Amino acid sequence: MTDASMASRVVRSSDYIPCEEAFVDTRLPGREGKMNYCIIGPGVAENEKQVVHIAEPHGFNVGGVSLPTGKINSLHSHTTAEVFLVCRGNWRFFWGYDGTDGEAVLSPGDVISIPTGTFRAFESVGSDNNFMLSWLGEDDPGHVTWANDVIEGAAEFGFYLRKDSSLVDVNAGDEMPASEDLLQPLSEAELLQFNRTSPAEMSARVYNVAQFAGLPGAFADCGLAGGAKRYHAIIGEGCHELGPARAHVLNPHSFSLGAVEAAPGNGFLTHRFGVKQVLTIGAGEWEVVLGDDHFSVGPEDTVSIPAGIWRSFRNTGTEPGIAYLATSGDLHADIEWAPDVLQQLG
Ligand SMILES: [Fe+2]
Repeated sequence: MTDASMASRVVRSSDYIPCEEAFVDTRLPGREGKMNYCIIGPGVAENEKQVVHIAEPHGFNVGGVSLPTGKINSLHSHTTAEVFLVCRGNWRFFWGYDGTDGEAVLSPGDVISIPTGTFRAFESVGSDNNFMLSWLGEDDPGHVTWANDVIEGAAEFGFYLRKDSSLVDVNAGDEMPASEDLLQPLSEAELLQFNRTSPAEMSARVYNVAQFAGLPGAFADCGLAGGAKRYHAIIGEGCHELGPARAHVLNPHSFSLGAVEAAPGNGFLTHRFGVKQVLTIGAGEWEVVLGDDHFSVGPEDTVSIPAGIWRSFRNTGTEPGIAYLATSGDLHADIEWAPDVLQQLG
């Protein structure tokens, strides 16, 4: 691979391009100013104007969202996993088909995995300086199902969804489809098919690196110079070397999610995996090496790591660092160490 192809795998948060009308709900009162981002994969965006930074399939999608304070992302459901990492701001999540089954206010560092088939919504509470990263399961995460009042309300503002969930913008001159081609509100029987999730079930699916010690010695290099780190098994089988360590959230997502905590000068020595991974920086300044190419990355930056390439990463800052590592697939991923690491391990 050339230098250019590696550089195109590093997407810096300062380069993330939002879409202000990614979804059918964006013209409803109280939804103004929602910014959606597609960093890896098209996600579930309904508007063809949404920019996708890296289109290559990874087995999951990575996106982001920000909302002005007090504004809402409307009630909707997904057919695949949806996981959020609160990077900045405070967010009130609420869920259930009428939004009253439970609520939780999340703060920076919180990761939440929302069960598939559960209606969920969230609003920004506290600060306009806010951002959440999100991971969606599968290469094709399908379409969002919106609560009925979203579909009915959007029509008043010229937004409709076809049955394939593509957006029709009548105000922008799109032709109005025949009514049989439009998505219809859900019947009561259909609504009753969606999941109910109790507050206790949802709170068991929230994890914050700051509130847990993490696993020591999760990788063979942890005892070597520059390899000290703790690993947090947040979702799925992961890529650690501890055997069947149980993650915080166990049901299949199509990816696993872990977090690496490392002091300055430490990180991951050179290794590789046979599946794709995506590294997202939570805190600190890091150097990522992909093959022969070195990249400096910081908070909220995203790095797509191809399968099979030798890679390392290291906290180059002066503060403790956190890097989130999403690994493609539901199976445990086995690590392969570079010859120089194996030599040090003796
Ligand atoms: Fe969603």
